[in-house]
Amino acid sequence: MDVGIDAIAFFGPQRYLDMADLARARGVDPAKYTRGLGQLRMAIATPCEDSVTLAANAAALALKRFDVDPQQIGTLVVGTETGIDHSKPVAVYVHEALKLRRCCRTFETKHACYGAFAGLTAASDWILSGRARGYKALIIASDIARYGVGELGEPTQGAGAVAMVVSENPRLITFDPLVTGDYTRQVMDFWRPLYSKFAFADGHYSIACYLEALAACRADALAKAADAEEYAIAKLSACFYHVPFVKMAKKAHQRHWEAELGAGVSPGDQRAQEVEASHGQRVAPWLSLNAEVGNIYTGSLFLALIDYLRHRNRTGPGLVSLFSYGSGCGAAWGFARTVPGVEGHAAALDPAAQLAARERISIEEYEEIMALVEVADRNDAAALDAGRWHVHESFLYQGTRDHVRRYSEFPG
Ligand code: HMG
Repeated sequence: MDVGIDAIAFFGPQRYLDMADLARARGVDPAKYTRGLGQLRMAIATPCEDSVTLAANAAALALKRFDVDPQQIGTLVVGTETGIDHSKPVAVYVHEALKLRRCCRTFETKHACYGAFAGLTAASDWILSGRARGYKALIIASDIARYGVGELGEPTQGAGAVAMVVSENPRLITFDPLVTGDYTRQVMDFWRPLYSKFAFADGHYSIACYLEALAACRADALAKAADAEEYAIAKLSACFYHVPFVKMAKKAHQRHWEAELGAGVSPGDQRAQEVEASHGQRVAPWLSLNAEVGNIYTGSLFLALIDYLRHRNRTGPGLVSLFSYGSGCGAAWGFARTVPGVEGHAAALDPAAQLAARERISIEEYEEIMALVEVADRNDAAALDAGRWHVHESFLYQGTRDHVRRYSEFPG
């Protein structure tokens, strides 16, 4: 039985911060953010947008654009590090908004940026086991990355959700169910204590943890392959990595090569040009959405996948690799194949129009939002005014009254 992604959609905030504006405000050369990190813009979630509103809007788009009946969903998982309650999952609010069946298994997964991938593999196993009985799974990656004003991680923030329908005989990609790798190690590279709206990160150490996890996960996956040569980089049409910032995917691809070669590649090496060309062919062409949106934590890997799938002319039936990394840390490696005819869905999953309609935010507005984020979840805080932030979608967080989160009615 083939299992994989049958429908996919991105939904993000309507406001963005230009990286050059942020650089100037922090007294940094803009090239550090745009070339050094590879980021052009950063999606900014206003206090009226949270992981629930982003997730529900993304899911509604995926169901509608791919004509999936919500009554066909038998499992709903939301992967997020940006939970809205210590007890209630984001997923149950999404379940209500989308009017899904009561006989639906619904839960939230958390492991920093790895949460949604963990949900995806659990859903695939559910279908492969035969327990789904023809029902589909809806997996949503929804996060708001916040490090705080003036912090080292500030240029690597972002926000957004990617919703995916996982099913038998999918229309977009099928997963290789056996050649998969896993990795777990307790490290303090990035975390967000219960009392904080902002993440703490040991930035440079987190990069080292990510790269170590990549090599270990890939080795674990290839140890299960009957013929590892079948999964060599030369056989891959694209390599997807977790993308906290665009440059990170370049570092990841180099480590991918080094793991395959069993040796390091230094800038002057003969191999360095081959690695560079491979990055230009298999990685860089699919990072334009990540450069526009920023880090969306657990959805970042899938944003790169959307970028790949929307380039209808460049995607043949090809083998691709997927590396998910969640700080803390947990990681997974997998392979997938595009389904013949996938190019016919490029327009349905392309978020270009949505991104083009975004409005630029000033540094002053951005800093005001970051201050408001501290109080927006408090009980009986001042009412949130969506008009103040030029946010137009109708499903929004309205504030917490009598200790209950209030949302506007979901359209449709
Ligand atoms: P930093 O110290 O500000 O930056 O921290 P830097 O000095 O390392 O410079 C960054 C790059 O810009 C370097 O390129 C510089 O050379 C270059 P590289 O050497 O790496 O190729 N540069 C310039 N380029 C052009 N013109 C210039 C210029 N100046 C410098 N003028 C850091 C950067 C990413 C560490 C920081 O932003 C941070 O702490 N971010 C948050 C943590 C993070 O993103 N970690 C990534 C790995 S962990 C992960 O991905 C998981 C995560 O998503 C969380 C989750 O799992 O939920 C974070």
